[in-house]
Amino acid sequence: YEIYLKGMTGAVPRLPTDPTRLEELTEQRLGPGPVGYVAGSAGNGSTARANRAALERRRIVPRMLRDVHERDLSVEVLGRRLPAPLALAPVGVLSIMHPEAEPAAARAAAAQGVPFILSSASSTPMEQVAEASGDGERWFQLYWPKDREVTRSFLARAKAAGFTALFVTLDTPLLAWRPRDLDQAYLPFLHGVGTANYFTDPAFQAGLAKPVHEDPNAAVLHFVGMFADPGKTWPDLAFLRENWDGPIVLKGILHPDDARRALDAGMDGVVVSNHGGRQVAGSVAAADALPGVVEAVGDRLTVLFDSGIRTGDDIFKALALGARAVLVGRPYAYGLGLDGQAGVEHVIRCLLAEFDLTLALSGHARATTLSPADLIQETP
Ligand code: FNR
Repeated sequence: YEIYLKGMTGAVPRLPTDPTRLEELTEQRLGPGPVGYVAGSAGNGSTARANRAALERRRIVPRMLRDVHERDLSVEVLGRRLPAPLALAPVGVLSIMHPEAEPAAARAAAAQGVPFILSSASSTPMEQVAEASGDGERWFQLYWPKDREVTRSFLARAKAAGFTALFVTLDTPLLAWRPRDLDQAYLPFLHGVGTANYFTDPAFQAGLAKPVHEDPNAAVLHFVGMFADPGKTWPDLAFLRENWDGPIVLKGILHPDDARRALDAGMDGVVVSNHGGRQVAGSVAAADALPGVVEAVGDRLTVLFDSGIRTGDDIFKALALGARAVLVGRPYAYGLGLDGQAGVEHVIRCLLAEFDLTLALSGHARATTLSPADLIQETP
């Protein structure tokens, strides 16, 4: 009611509450390079569209006359109780959206009680983001560097800066074919954006012939060769397990057998995700992959979900399909681009308010009691 009450004085929200309008506004207001990078996806966009279609195809079956007067949105994730089943997904290079970049997003997340997952490809060194996030729950996302010393150094820095869980993204050993970026020849990393964690890293610096400020181009090229490694295989996870003593979550899992392998490798969770449709064009929709992964490991691993979450009812559906919580990517990047920290808070609040209402109006008082029986699937 807050919005309607303010409306009695003639005030309307500074940003749209509809995620589609938010995206349109971002397209209008921000430059074509950054918008293309954030809104774009792999190939002809079919995976991103499939992500949406798979969520839309599932319909909620509301139940009536159940006491929903008091609601509890909280869930337990990786041994912590979160006030709501939502975290901000790792999104790199946020300075292309707003000069206050990751610290503003981290402050917004902390203010709203939502965990912030910091990307390895952050525009801001992780220590500064940690400071901005204050008491907020923060997790670190690893693009698994080629060099073991750099990996060790990242893990040690993240631990020292208070990041409690490690999210290892497996779906990006190479950057995919992304036409919007290719057509504009726009890749932020090649302009040194998203390199902050690397350029400030002593182990990374040790691999350079000259200091970063003396030869930034050479540093960027070193980063490109370092940031990920298509040669990695499952046994390599033992190295991360040995060097990180908190929870480890594998991001980008879509096949039940890969989820089982995560379990065998001593991991704590998986994110069922296709990177928001940005990696494999023609990939299975993330929501279609979710039930199989939940069936394989849902009772033993924390299963999280992202790719295509735009609304509160999407969160409901992902939870009903068995996810413990969801991550959201582009919507908060748009909020940041349009209105900095306040824009990110707006997006979080809209998602959670709509989720709370969806829960109540569908006859549920808790986020933890949803099940596949609360959905039907329309035939495509
Ligand atoms: C991403 N994503 C991502 N993932 C990751 O593990 N590390 C990263 O640095 C990035 N960077 C990144 C940049 C941009 C601009 C986008 C849009 C996405 C993927 C992200 O974590 C998440 O999986 C998707 O964004 C989820 O899909 P939606 O919510 O954007 O549909």
